[in-house]
Amino acid sequence: MSDNNENMIKIEKLKEIIDKSKKIVFFTGAGVSTESGIKDFRGKDGISKYTDIPIEILISKSYFYKHTLEFYDYYKKCFNCIDKKPNITHYFIKKLEDEGKVLGVITQNVDGLHYKAGSTNVVELHGTIYKNRCVDCGKEYTPQYVFNSEGIPKCTCGGIIKPDVVLYEESLPEKAIYEASKLVRDADTLIVLGTSLQVMPASSYVASFNGDNLVIINLDSTPFDQYADLVIHDKLSNVMEKL
Ligand code: OAD
Repeated sequence: MSDNNENMIKIEKLKEIIDKSKKIVFFTGAGVSTESGIKDFRGKDGISKYTDIPIEILISKSYFYKHTLEFYDYYKKCFNCIDKKPNITHYFIKKLEDEGKVLGVITQNVDGLHYKAGSTNVVELHGTIYKNRCVDCGKEYTPQYVFNSEGIPKCTCGGIIKPDVVLYEESLPEKAIYEASKLVRDADTLIVLGTSLQVMPASSYVASFNGDNLVIINLDSTPFDQYADLVIHDKLSNVMEKL
């Protein structure tokens, strides 16, 4: 059977799962935003291919404090997505939410696109570029201020401004941990979209899912494919336009 036919059969199965499910949770990664023009990290054209220093170091807490200027050079180049718009995948999730089938979205993305698409219950495991505050006095700044600043963005008090993005060596926000755990516990179906599932502890939420259907849709294979009830290796828009 050709890959195309095989995927058509899988998409029919996905439709059945979605029809039967009442409490769907989506777990998303950078792959849902590539079709909005934002590069992922570890995909074929991911940003980790364009740096000499591994991203796990470049976006770590110690690198932020020790090499703040270099951190911001990279951050401003690779994380500035304030002008990007949601795509068919973000809107598909929102549509299912409007139909009352979705409990929530757990995302590793910091781009805010699920909110821009209108989704309301979004758990941002890795924070967001939309909040930024001074490490000394806590004053908040817009992402525009941060991305348009020369060099290191500074507060009026002289302190460094830090984006509310969870860096390597930092813990996930407690509220996000609580909400994500609850969503995964309550879900009958977990649909995982556009993530390599290589980053812990985020991927542990997928590991802990104990509901009826685990679905993974991703271009490349993931370490969790073997545990899923349905795996589709395709571009998300190819799948979404057939649903
Ligand atoms: P990755 O870059 O690790 O994985 C994205 C996955 O999406 C890859 O396996 C791609 O093949 C797949 N993909 C890309 N475009 C796709 C498309 N149109 N359709 C289907 N699949 C597609 O991104 P994440 O798993 O999200 O942390 O990475 C996790 C974390 O690593 C990120 O949140 C980030 C990074 O360190 C922070 O930003 C704090």
